[in-house]
Amino acid sequence: TPKGSCLESVKIAIDTGYRHIDGAFVYYNEHEVGQAIREKIAEGKIKREDIFYCGKLWNTCHPPELVRPTLEKTLKILQLDYVDLYIIELPMAFKPGDAIYPRDENGKIIYHETDLCATWEAMEACKDAGLAKSIGVSNFNRRQLEMILNKPGLKYKPVSNQVECHPYFTQPKLLEFCRQHDIVIVGYSPLGTSRDETWVNVSSPPLLKDAVLNAIGKKYNKTAAQVALRFGIQRGVVVIPKSFNPQRIRENFQIFDFSLTEEEMKEIEALNKNVRYVELLM
Ligand code: A2P
Repeated sequence: TPKGSCLESVKIAIDTGYRHIDGAFVYYNEHEVGQAIREKIAEGKIKREDIFYCGKLWNTCHPPELVRPTLEKTLKILQLDYVDLYIIELPMAFKPGDAIYPRDENGKIIYHETDLCATWEAMEACKDAGLAKSIGVSNFNRRQLEMILNKPGLKYKPVSNQVECHPYFTQPKLLEFCRQHDIVIVGYSPLGTSRDETWVNVSSPPLLKDAVLNAIGKKYNKTAAQVALRFGIQRGVVVIPKSFNPQRIRENFQIFDFSLTEEEMKEIEALNKNVRYVELLM
């Protein structure tokens, strides 16, 4: 993100009413997010406890002894005492070190063997130390979730699993599994991503051009984006839309003054293509 745009966007978001902020060390803007939160606290607009900040443990930091120092580094960048939620960003580990994407001489990612259960125990210790109020995971499939849930001596269950989720990728089976285990699904790319070809599978059509979403939007005087977000929250999925545009930041918050009928929800569910925009090919 261009320097400063994240600071401004988060301040506008907080003024608009957003309280949940989804961040990560690898977004390289945590210093701006932290500054925005601290400025809004100093202004008296919010208290720290009003904000729900989610941070993420990157793939190069899975060895258990790296987990707490990594979270402490994030807290130092944010200049906050704790995060509300800390999650394992991906279930696969990369070779530890300064390179975020460590590669061999052939350009292949260098993976690292770690035990996800041991990483999880280090996450539990972060919660016990008060550095994270809650702990969760991201991009975990059912098998990976079960590994944690069935871990002998499990102290805390993951409270949430952040995965791609939107009308073209509705995740019915994972959603049901997570419901049964009281794990909240946090849906990323709820608007169908920015369609940046460097990391997005653009062969899947643009979500916001969808005829059904637009037709339903017309009925309520809402945009396709607002319908897609409303669809998420109405089925119990937390949505984390991304925008750096003040008008669209506000637009994406105007989703609490209408509701979709059961029939409309079914119609939108039927749009599922089972195709990911974010394939995470690494
Ligand atoms: P911008 O930052 O210019 O608003 P996702 O949340 O699925 O990752 O989607 C993010 C993309 O969607 C960004 O490119 C963002 O661009 C765009 N976007 C965000 N809100 C809206 C909206 N209400 N209508 C159209 N596009 C939007």
